[in-house]
Amino acid sequence: MTDPQKVLTERVQQALGNAFGPEYTDADPLIRPSQFADFQANVAMSLSKRLRRAPREVAEAIAAELSDFPGTVEVSGPGFLNIALDSGWIAGEASGLLADPRVGVGHTTPPQRVVIDYSAPNAAKEMHVGHLRTTIVGDAMARTLEHLGNTVIRQNHLGDWGTPFGMLIEHLLDIGEDAAVAQLEAGEGTEYYQDARRKFDGDETFKTRSRARVRTLQSGDAETLRLWHVFMDATVRYFNKIYDMLGVTLTDTDIAGESMYNPLLEKTCDDLENLGVAVLSEGALCVFPPGFTGSDDKPLPLIIRKSDGGYGYASTDMAAVRYRVEDLKADRMLYVVGADQALHFRMVFAAAKQAGWLPESVSAEHVQIGMMLGKDGKRFKTRSGESVKLMDLLQEAVDRSSAVIEDRGYDETTRSEIAHAVGMGAVKYADLSVSHDSEYVFDFDRMLGFTGNTGPYMQYATARIRSIFRKGGIDAADVSGSITLGADAERALALHLLSFGTLVELVAEQVEPHRLCAYLFETASLFSTFYEQCPVLKDGVAAETRASRLALCALTLRVLETGLDLLGVPVPDRM
Ligand code: ARG
Repeated sequence: MTDPQKVLTERVQQALGNAFGPEYTDADPLIRPSQFADFQANVAMSLSKRLRRAPREVAEAIAAELSDFPGTVEVSGPGFLNIALDSGWIAGEASGLLADPRVGVGHTTPPQRVVIDYSAPNAAKEMHVGHLRTTIVGDAMARTLEHLGNTVIRQNHLGDWGTPFGMLIEHLLDIGEDAAVAQLEAGEGTEYYQDARRKFDGDETFKTRSRARVRTLQSGDAETLRLWHVFMDATVRYFNKIYDMLGVTLTDTDIAGESMYNPLLEKTCDDLENLGVAVLSEGALCVFPPGFTGSDDKPLPLIIRKSDGGYGYASTDMAAVRYRVEDLKADRMLYVVGADQALHFRMVFAAAKQAGWLPESVSAEHVQIGMMLGKDGKRFKTRSGESVKLMDLLQEAVDRSSAVIEDRGYDETTRSEIAHAVGMGAVKYADLSVSHDSEYVFDFDRMLGFTGNTGPYMQYATARIRSIFRKGGIDAADVSGSITLGADAERALALHLLSFGTLVELVAEQVEPHRLCAYLFETASLFSTFYEQCPVLKDGVAAETRASRLALCALTLRVLETGLDLLGVPVPDRM
């Protein structure tokens, strides 16, 4: 165990046991970073009442039990314990971390089967910027949970079924398969949808044909299904272009769209009715999960079969919960979906619990994604008010990055590789660095900036450490050996690096990738100070100091690289 906060927690708990008896060993010592020492423990205050002793006295008693401690403990003020760690201890732990291929990141025990529902664009419309964020956050979580040894099952719950497909297929027949495929592959799904919609609203025979087509699709007619596939395959090819561009780990095998559940819906409804969980209400089959009421205080229905017999979004999600628990054997399910669907998921989870389909042992979490806003603070749109085409947006990020590095003397291939990494890194990091549930302003100028908590800054900080090794003609992977800590800046950096593993575990548990961004940003800032104050390769640096500093550089590099990889942010070798 290297994380000082964990080590201290354990030590202080031991001390509590020794001083006051075994029933005190599980009290939270309340270890926090401190401005007066490395850490402070506030437990004396919290225990003083229970022990009926003055907090300062309690603190003294704890301190007395911490004599063999690798550092100093001082009682201050009303009863704070100020704890400073020995630099030697920090250095030893940091050297150990460098020898650990996982740089302190453990494994979840026991490993879990985690289903992550993310991305999930709708085929009948263009993938929009909101889906970009669920894709990026979901992918970072998938990478992180997998790295911790869990089995991650990605589920791309595409919107690929339902009544709009009648008109979409009829429109495909009108314009011809080839033209339709070309348009969809080019990412013009929105235009395609709008053309179909216009005809549907203005042309009675088209409307009639479309409605008939919905019925033949539902009945499983082979030719209609073939046309549906033509439409879907072209659409998915476009989604895949976006995923490729972003470097997202989703593949076709992760597709588990609404259509997949269609054959299960009738049984889902029957079972819910037989279980007494669903009841008929005004012709519709509904679940009324307890505790949900509308504005009029009436129980709120989750409609699982409409009065016309059709199924909807909720029907599919009820079937999906059951499938994920029973067939995929999920221990944990993350639904990375817009915050505006919070009520839907609360009701689905509650209904599934009522049905016994979601046991206590399985955790179902809606990872709410805050809305993407434009610089004007309103929902992100183009100037003409259209929703923004994702591929254009991503391309713009790359083009802008390319312009930034224009005068750096790279050949065309190198420049375009760097521009791609910087552009995508900027977009992804911007999505990840703010808490997933807060609204978020999409602003190219800010996300592409080379200062502050941005993707390009993090990439630059990482590339800079790589260049130290390049200059020294050393392979960072070969660096081993012990770290000794002299300067304050060295010590602060090393101390910070010790908590990387704990932080990654926390990110996985709490679903908070923004905390990893903040941690890495702090790492880069501490490194920067260290590098300003502590020369590494300069003439006159003693061989031993140089070796230790190189080891610290290598450790920092490994933490940054591992962290950015978990976030899915690529790092170009040079910038
Ligand atoms: N396609 C939906 C949308 O764009 C998101 C689906 C999320 N997943 C789910 N199981 N409902 O809003």
